[in-house]
Order: sequence, then structure tokens, then C-alpha cells
Amino acid sequence: MKNVFAVAVGVTLVFFMAVGVSQAGKTSVEYGKQLFSDKGLAGSTNDKSCSSCHAQGKGLEKSGKNPKLVAAINQCVTDQLGGEKIDGRSAEIRSLKMYIETLTGPAK
Ligand code: HEC
Repeated sequence: MKNVFAVAVGVTLVFFMAVGVSQAGKTSVEYGKQLFSDKGLAGSTNDKSCSSCHAQGKGLEKSGKNPKLVAAINQCVTDQLGGEKIDGRSAEIRSLKMYIETLTGPAK
């Protein structure tokens, strides 16, 4: 009977580890694109998303090369969306960054 219990605990642990890994794997261009037009991003309450001002990445054509990209994103999050600063290591910010980097065309 003890073994059955141990197996059940083991299976549960593996399940939660798998969920954790799949959440971490959420960092992607697709996820960034989705967040870019999310009006509730970072607790934003003013009914705006990044897309409201940067439709199709307008104005961000060179931002993929901006060394202060994370700070620039967070500045818009707080000042333009009225949201809370996003953790610099989170999947959200890394995905937004990845998406914005795809908007950067060839070097001019
Ligand atoms: C209410 C309008 C508005 C919203 C909403 C907004 N922005 Fe901005 N954003 C601006 C303006 C205005 C600037 C400054 C443009 C300039 O002069 O460079 C800017 C600048 C930026 C820059 C810096 C551009 C550079 O020089 O590289 C980034 C990156 C950026 N925004 C990303 C975002 C992201 C990501 C979101 C969503 C979290 C967002 N913005 C939401 C208006 C907005």
C-alpha cells in the first residue's frame, strides 16, 4: 500500500514539473505578439494595449537594436498603459522583446 502512495506522489510531482516547464517554454514571439495587443497587460486599466499606439509595430522599427529595450518597454507599460512594471526576467518581458526584435528590419 505504501508503494501505491509513493507512486501517486511521484506522478503528481512529475505532472507539476511538466506544467512548470511548459510555462517557462511560453517565451516566444507568438506570446509576445499576443501580449502586444493585450489590453490587460501588467494590470493596465486604461483600455489601451501596445498596439493602440504601435499598430503593426509602428515606431518600433529600430527598437530591436535599442540596448535599453526592456526599460523602454517598461516605461510605456507604466506611463502609457498605467500598468505595473514587468519583471525583467519574466516570460512576458522576454516574449515582448522577442516580438519587437522581429520588427527590426535590415540595418540601414
Ligand atoms: C498611448 C500610446 C502608447 C502606448 C499605449 C505604448 N506606447 Fe510605446 N511609445 C509611445 C511613444 C509616444 C513613444 C516615444 C516615441 C519616440 O519618440 O521614440 C514610445 C516609445 C516606445 C519604445 C521606444 C522606441 C525606441 O526608441 O526604441 C518602445 C520599445 C515602446 N514604446 C514599446 C511599447 C510597448 C511594448 C508598449 C506596450 C506595453 C507600448 N510601447 C505602449 C507611445 C505608446
